[in-house]
Amino acid sequence: MAEEDALARTLDIARAYIASRTGRPVWPETTLVALRGALGGALPADPIDATAVIDALARAAEPGLVTTTGPRYFGFVTGGALPATVAAEWLTAAWDQSAGLYVLSPAASVVEEVTGAWLIDLLGLPADASVGFVTGCHMANFTALAAARHELLRRAGWDVEADGLQGAPRLRVIVGDEVHVSVVGALRMLGVGARQVERVAADDQGRLKPAALESALAGAQGPTIVCAQAGNVNSGAFDPLDAIADLTSGHQAWLHVDGAFGLWAAASGTLRHHVNGIERADSWATDAHKWLNVPYDSGLVFTAHPAAHRATMSLTAAYLMRSPEEPREPMDWTPESSRRARGFAVYAALRSLGRSGVADMIDRCCRLARRFADRLRQEPTIRILNEVVLNQVLVRVVPVAGDADAATKDALRAVQEERICWLGGSRWHGLDAMRISVSNWSTTDEDVDRSADSILRAVRAISERR
Ligand SMILES: Cc1ncc(COP(=O)(O)O)c(C=O)c1O
Repeated sequence: MAEEDALARTLDIARAYIASRTGRPVWPETTLVALRGALGGALPADPIDATAVIDALARAAEPGLVTTTGPRYFGFVTGGALPATVAAEWLTAAWDQSAGLYVLSPAASVVEEVTGAWLIDLLGLPADASVGFVTGCHMANFTALAAARHELLRRAGWDVEADGLQGAPRLRVIVGDEVHVSVVGALRMLGVGARQVERVAADDQGRLKPAALESALAGAQGPTIVCAQAGNVNSGAFDPLDAIADLTSGHQAWLHVDGAFGLWAAASGTLRHHVNGIERADSWATDAHKWLNVPYDSGLVFTAHPAAHRATMSLTAAYLMRSPEEPREPMDWTPESSRRARGFAVYAALRSLGRSGVADMIDRCCRLARRFADRLRQEPTIRILNEVVLNQVLVRVVPVAGDADAATKDALRAVQEERICWLGGSRWHGLDAMRISVSNWSTTDEDVDRSADSILRAVRAISERR
């Protein structure tokens, strides 16, 4: 049967790819022009057999794949894909459930309910928090901030879902200076322009300064949202959540925590102290596709105000059948109606790792980040710019003579050309840096050592040339 043949072929291709994960180059080995040539051409006039389609797609696409699932990918903040989650994603596609309403997939609805409760337990959030399964932390921030907007305006006597924003009481939004750009993007979609967001000072690690927030709040009037961060995208630093919660609770402000990857510190006994006070926030955003190592796309939003969350997202229409038993209706908690049943893969991740497995994975990544930093800082011309408190390391080359920004960029280029590991660059407090993010479940000490050697080779070659 054509369908079975295509699936069998896909299994072979996927197995071979997964087996090559450790050895294949981390960087793609092709060009834009070559990819367009291999994948392009005119729309086929007639049907093509499914197995032939899969064969051709895999052959043409593979040279353009980045081995983000491999153990030496340290770019952005990118998790791999745990074995149980890849398998669960295959089933999700085979089952092809639309996770909008219970009647569309009772299994998807109940899996979300169960997984949501496990996540709340694991992360130490309030037991009655609401949960939404979204595409990523950007949309998790959007959903949480939409709930915040609803609730604060409701308290001010305004129904934003019915009456919109025109003429509404002004909403103040205060963020730390190191806010992630997705929070600003989410606010933009909610009618709060980037110039309207009030930024307060952060310290040398990127942590919001409570004293700066205190003076901003002292001038606050009316409904106010404060956005804190658990895990700075460059340094991994945490805003002091307890101190921030003390301030926001005194002003009836809504405290939102963007914890795209840092929220997972809550699942580790040794790192939990970084998020002390987390349970006092009003909403939280995180990703499963980052540190939980679930395939893309998978984000999670939680709020301590289920009624506000639901009122913001929920829609009704005569044909959208709701079940009399009042089960979880997944579309009440996300900005989407029809969508992939994302809960299955998150469920598989948590079930396969268990509480101890999640903690081990998070702790291991942090230990490996420290190993990276410890090896690199031995080199006289390397500076580690951040306190390595989590899984992020910022590496700068400071040659004896010459421009350190240029040396850092040259070294990064040389590392990228060697293709042993994948690193990106960033700017930190006006300085160029190489960014290392250890977020993959399969990274080992040996992977870190091979990658550190590659960085050291690049740095030494640059120093010798200058
Ligand atoms: C702190 C923080 N918030 C939000 C995001 C956005 O997450 P996503 O790209 O999964 O939507 C990121 C991504 O790196 C992040 O680091």
